[in-house]
Amino acid sequence: MKTLIVNEKYGIDHLNLTPGQVPEPKADEVLVKVAAISLNYLDLMVIRGDFGHQIPHIPGSDAAGTVLRIGSAVTGFLPGDQVSTHFTPGWQSGNLTPEGLENRLGIDAAGVFSTYICLPETALVKSPVNLSAQESATLPIAALTAWEALHEAGGLKPGETVLLQGTGGVSVFALQFAKLAGARVIITSSSDEKLKRARSMGADHVFNYKTEPDWLEKVKALGGVDLALEVIGTGFKESIQACRFGGRIIIIGFLNGAETSLSIFDFLQKKLTVKGVLVGSKGAFSQMNETIEKAGLHPVIDKIFPFSEARKAFEYLAAGKHFGKIVLDLN
Ligand SMILES: NC(=O)c1ccc[n+]([C@@H]2O[C@H](COP(=O)([O-])OP(=O)(O)OC[C@H]3O[C@@H](n4cnc5c(N)ncnc54)[C@H](OP(=O)(O)O)[C@@H]3O)[C@@H](O)[C@H]2O)c1
Repeated sequence: MKTLIVNEKYGIDHLNLTPGQVPEPKADEVLVKVAAISLNYLDLMVIRGDFGHQIPHIPGSDAAGTVLRIGSAVTGFLPGDQVSTHFTPGWQSGNLTPEGLENRLGIDAAGVFSTYICLPETALVKSPVNLSAQESATLPIAALTAWEALHEAGGLKPGETVLLQGTGGVSVFALQFAKLAGARVIITSSSDEKLKRARSMGADHVFNYKTEPDWLEKVKALGGVDLALEVIGTGFKESIQACRFGGRIIIIGFLNGAETSLSIFDFLQKKLTVKGVLVGSKGAFSQMNETIEKAGLHPVIDKIFPFSEARKAFEYLAAGKHFGKIVLDLN
């Protein structure tokens, strides 16, 4: 067994593959042989020390693989099942409560960057039957967050217009889910090449936020948006400007920083609603997986690295060159 551990110091350079013993599942636990892992911006923050974890620490929240053994009290899984990890085992269904944030994988509890993991069944969900393990590993954070933002928090209706920022993991899943729901999608990127890919996936309007400084005026000229997914943080002002009367803004991330100054005038004048989202429940994860199966949808994987090249994979993530998800293959 091998586990990716942040050793000695924070930082990508201190990620080390460390040998260990395959764990034995307790009564309520499931032993999974991990086939693939996907990377999130969150992992990068953990590895850089933003959460102040004591080290050594095992990071990671997104994995998929096969159930090898189950504990005596486990009822929801059998050996041979294909599963993905569920980031918030404290949040099984309904609305998020503070308790729902306990034991998040890779944050409050040990992470999943290992060839074998033992988890309670609350931290696992069956994978969609149409997906490979590599594809299923992309779902736990990015896909579920996009799903939650559009459907559970955003209340997206067919025919509405959605604004998506950049072409990272969350935004590309949101593009796929929003088109599936019959919405019109406006997406931004710093790369014309990535915008071309977004177009080929059904994006209705695409803008390069680097070379088209007036992109926001163009969005307004299109009539504005009903729903904006905010992943930039400092882009919050732009989301406000982009919304039409009665618009909704879902706050997801702060890639460019969490501090920004704004006037509350537009909230009143446009009667805007703002909500924060923290991934999603296991119930929402299962619903999302049903939709993925029915629609025959496949996640967009930008690049697959072998487990032994995890450092390279994180450097690639940090450089922001990807479109969609980055995956580690453990087979
Ligand atoms: N609240 C939650 O539950 C939750 C869940 C998942 C993620 N998040 C957060 O959401 C954010 C996005 O996550 P992710 O996994 O999608 O990240 P990611 O895959 O690393 O996405 C990065 C992409 O964002 C785009 N970007 C960066 N700066 C931009 C800017 N100023 N304007 C427009 N686009 C910009 C770039 O796209 P282009 O190359 O196309 O320009 C970049 O490639 C992160 O802050 C993450 O921590 C929160």
